[in-house]
Amino acid sequence: MKAAQPDFDLIARPYRWLEYMTLGRALERSRLHFLPELRDRTSALVLGDGDGRFLARLFAQNPALQADAVDTSRVMLELLRHNCPSDAVLRTHQADALIFLATTPKIQYDLVVTHFFLDCLIQSEVNEIAREIAPFLAPGALWVVTDFAIPSGAMRIPADLLVRFLYLAFRILTGLRVSRLPDHDAALQAAGFIRVRQHSSFFGALVSDIWKLSEAVP
Ligand SMILES: C[S@@+](CC[C@H](N)C(=O)[O-])C[C@H]1O[C@@H](n2cnc3c(N)ncnc32)[C@H](O)[C@@H]1O
Repeated sequence: MKAAQPDFDLIARPYRWLEYMTLGRALERSRLHFLPELRDRTSALVLGDGDGRFLARLFAQNPALQADAVDTSRVMLELLRHNCPSDAVLRTHQADALIFLATTPKIQYDLVVTHFFLDCLIQSEVNEIAREIAPFLAPGALWVVTDFAIPSGAMRIPADLLVRFLYLAFRILTGLRVSRLPDHDAALQAAGFIRVRQHSSFFGALVSDIWKLSEAVP
C-alpha cells in the first residue's frame, strides 16, 4: 500500500526557519554529524534532501562529487539547486523516490543519503526502498540515515509527544498521512544492511547512522 503523496512546495521556502524555530540547530547538527567521514565519496544518491542544505555542504567538502537528488517537491529542488554550487555535477529529479528506484538505470553510487526522509514513508515503503537500493550500490557504498527516534527510559514520553506534534504539523502543512515512525533499522537489516556507525543526540530523539551492505563490510 502506498501512502498519499505529501506536498512540501508550500513550506519549502520557510522550511529552514520553521526547523530552526522549533528545534534550533539540533537537526542540522544531526544531519552533519558524519559529514567529515564522507570525504572520499564521489557519487551520491540523495533522497528527499529538501532545500539541499546537506548536499551543499557535501559539495563544499567534496568538490569532485557527482550527485543525483530526488524529491517530489519542485520548490524544494529549486532551492536545492540554488544552494549547491553552480558548477556542481548535480542532476535533480522531481519524482517519488520509489518510482525513481524502480525506473532508473542502475548507476552505482558510493553514497546514499536520507535525512529525515524515511520518516515520511510507511513501513512497506521503507522496506521497498531498502530492497530496491541495493543494486544501485558500488562495493563499499555507505548509506547515511538520519531520523527521529523514540528512546527508552525517561525520554520516551517527551520524544513520543514531540514526534506526534511534528506529524500533526506536517499533516496540516503538507498533507502527510504518515503518523508513526517506520522501523528503518528492521527494513535495512532485512535488506542485508548492517549498521557500522551510530550517533544519537537530542536525548535520544535524533539518530544518525551509517549502514553498509553486509557483504561490503570488511
Ligand atoms: C521532512 S523533509 C526532509 C528534508 C531534508 N532532508 C531535511 O533533512 O530536513 C522530507 C523531504 O522529502 C520529500 N519527499 C517526501 N516524500 C517523498 C517521496 N516519496 N519521494 C521523494 N521525495 C519525497 C519532501 O518533498 C521533502 O523535501
